[in-house]
Amino acid sequence: MYHALLMLTPKQVARFSKLLLLAITIAAGTAMIGCGGSGEAAEAKAFFLAKGCNECHTISTFSIESQNKSGPDLAEAYTDVQKRFGTSLENFLKNPTGTMQMVLTSKIKLTDEEKQKAIQYMKYAYDNRPNK
Ligand code: HEC
Repeated sequence: MYHALLMLTPKQVARFSKLLLLAITIAAGTAMIGCGGSGEAAEAKAFFLAKGCNECHTISTFSIESQNKSGPDLAEAYTDVQKRFGTSLENFLKNPTGTMQMVLTSKIKLTDEEKQKAIQYMKYAYDNRPNK
C-alpha cells in the first residue's frame, strides 16, 4: 500500500483525491436522503408544485388537490402506469404517450435528473399513500 502510493504520479494522486471527494459527497447525500422521511415528503411536494403537475394531478400523499382534476392521483402512479399503459413508471416518463407526451414535450420540460427525481417522489408517494 505504502509502496503503491509512492509509485503514483502527482496527476494520479490528484485524480484519486477528486474521486475520494466525489465518493464522500455521494455518501453524505445518500445518508441525508436515508434519514429524512418527512424531509423527502416536503421535497417531493415542493417539486410537484414547482413543476405545475398539480394543475391536473391530485397527489393525495402530499395533500395536493388538482386544480382541474383531469389527470389521475399520482399517489397511485407507481403501479397504475403498469395497468394503464403496460409499462413501468420509469419508461413512461422517458417515453410518454397520450396527454403526458404533449405535456412533457411542450408545457413542462424535465431534465433526465428531474425525471429521476419525479420517479423517486412518485414511488415515495405510493409507499406512503393515505388509502393503502
Ligand atoms: C395539462 C394537464 C397535466 C399536467 C400539467 C400534468 N399531467 Fe400527468 N397526466 C395528465 C392526464 C390527463 C393523464 C392521464 C393519462 C392520459 O390521458 O394520457 C396523466 C397521466 C400521468 C401519469 C400516469 C399516471 C397513471 O396513473 O397512469 C403520470 C406518471 C403523470 N401524468 C405524471 C405527471 C407529472 C410528474 C407531472 C408534472 C411534471 C404531470 N403529470 C403534469 C395530465 C397532466
